[in-house]
Amino acid sequence: MTTPVGTIKREEESAAGHGLCVMTRRRFLMTGSAAAVSVSTISLSLFPGRVVQAEVVEYPRKHIARLSALKDDQPLEFNYPDNEANSAAMLVKMGGVKAGGGIGPQGDVVAFSYICSHQGGPLQNRYKVVDNHRVLGQCPLHLSTFDLTRHGIVVSGQAYENLPQVLLELEGDEIYAVGIMGLLYGRNRNLIKSQKG
Ligand code: FES
Repeated sequence: MTTPVGTIKREEESAAGHGLCVMTRRRFLMTGSAAAVSVSTISLSLFPGRVVQAEVVEYPRKHIARLSALKDDQPLEFNYPDNEANSAAMLVKMGGVKAGGGIGPQGDVVAFSYICSHQGGPLQNRYKVVDNHRVLGQCPLHLSTFDLTRHGIVVSGQAYENLPQVLLELEGDEIYAVGIMGLLYGRNRNLIKSQKG
């Protein structure tokens, strides 16, 4: 299932009618996520008199879990956006700690790549709770650690790029992955097979 482009367009038209930035949060996140798999191009008026072109990446919408079935601080592994190399990812409800991009009543449910952004080290079983901090690391290769409450920024180690964050949507009790912010390690585009190809 692809992004409901018609819905996004209606939201943007409504926003434009109220003098707001003509770009929904979802489109912004998806536009910023990976320019390599371009399925369409849109024109944006972000500043008066200035129109810029932006590429829009459409990801598959994939059911991941039920919110009510998640247990605090117990990660769930899944693959996204496909089942190809370096698609391993984790979903976790962070015990009520609100996070950037978090969903659910407490904004504490997030998902990230399980592959270190530095040189692809495996991050499985490295989720840690330290007081109100929620991190993934240390990476076994060069000790990088990523802050899951702040979009996967690097807090220590050799990595210099955020851990790619899987964008989530909540529909009732159902959690869906709908995109990725950042480029998965080892890929030149997040979706190995273009949806056009
Ligand atoms: S591969 Fe993870 S820190 Fe180098």
